[in-house]
Amino acid sequence: MRQRAAAEKKADSEAVVIGVISGKGGVGKSVFSVNFSIALSEMGKKMLIIDLDIGMGNIEHLVGRSSLPDIADCAHDHLQLSDAIFKGPGNISFIAGGNGLSTLFRPDGEHLDAFLRQIEQIKRNYDFILFDFGAGVTDDMLHYILAVHQMILVTTPEPPAMADGYSALKIICSKNAALPVFCVVNMTGNSREGKETWQRLSGAAKKYIHIDLQWLTALHRDNAVIRSVREQSPCVLRYPHSRFSIDMRLLARAFLVQYQHEQAVSSFSPFVLRVKKYFELLRGK
Ligand SMILES: Nc1ncnc2c1ncn2[C@@H]1O[C@H](COP(=O)(O)OP(=O)(O)OP(=O)(O)O)[C@@H](O)[C@H]1O
Ligand SMILES: [Mg+2]
Repeated sequence: MRQRAAAEKKADSEAVVIGVISGKGGVGKSVFSVNFSIALSEMGKKMLIIDLDIGMGNIEHLVGRSSLPDIADCAHDHLQLSDAIFKGPGNISFIAGGNGLSTLFRPDGEHLDAFLRQIEQIKRNYDFILFDFGAGVTDDMLHYILAVHQMILVTTPEPPAMADGYSALKIICSKNAALPVFCVVNMTGNSREGKETWQRLSGAAKKYIHIDLQWLTALHRDNAVIRSVREQSPCVLRYPHSRFSIDMRLLARAFLVQYQHEQAVSSFSPFVLRVKKYFELLRGK
């Protein structure tokens, strides 16, 4: 059943925008975006996924909805972005990336501007907005990254996925080195393999790109995910006790803990700066 998302209202602050990226395709970004959003929604967070794999989008299929207005329709028919927000399972909202003809749509400066302005307007309604990007780094993507506060790099333990992930990271960090980046290692055989993959990637990122790649949790390779994709029903809802679903809830919890810690540090820092200034004044600097 198609259901437009009713205008949602969230009380306090504006949404944090998270870009989900990878180097290589097919590493599980979209599966991650959907299941991560549902896991956070179960913890009381208001979630919106925007499928920015324009023309090749598959979020709508992963949540069992199809033929919805998408981002390209918004641009062509001058619809508001909020008119393309639909309710998915697990109380998440999403905007479809479209397929087929939408491949002809390349956002120009005017559309990008309108998109970014409308994102600002809907930010108050959500805790987190996820941008599910296509594989690799494109010119268009670099524009959308202007609106992003944090990145999640998804990779698998396979060397080609890691190498391409590292290259994507390098390009993005050359545009914005201050962007916090989390690493999710998907389709691991065991937890050690996940951590080892992160250690190798974060070692290279620290040495050559000078960024801290933050660890979350590994997600096991699990046939329940493959079945849930075929059934167009997200794994954490369809198979809540599967290995992948348990991992995903742990990951969502780890993410919130790190996020809240960062929030506390950043709201604390003006106070620290004031104290520092006070002591400098006392010392007559
Ligand atoms: N943890 C997992 N265990 C088993 N299979 C998985 C897992 N995660 C993803 N997959 C499989 O990988 C496929 C590709 O996943 P997904 O579409 O999320 O990749 P993607 O990175 O978004 O791809 P693209 O780059 O094309 O957008 C899924 O259809 C699913 O079958
Ligand atoms: Mg995808």
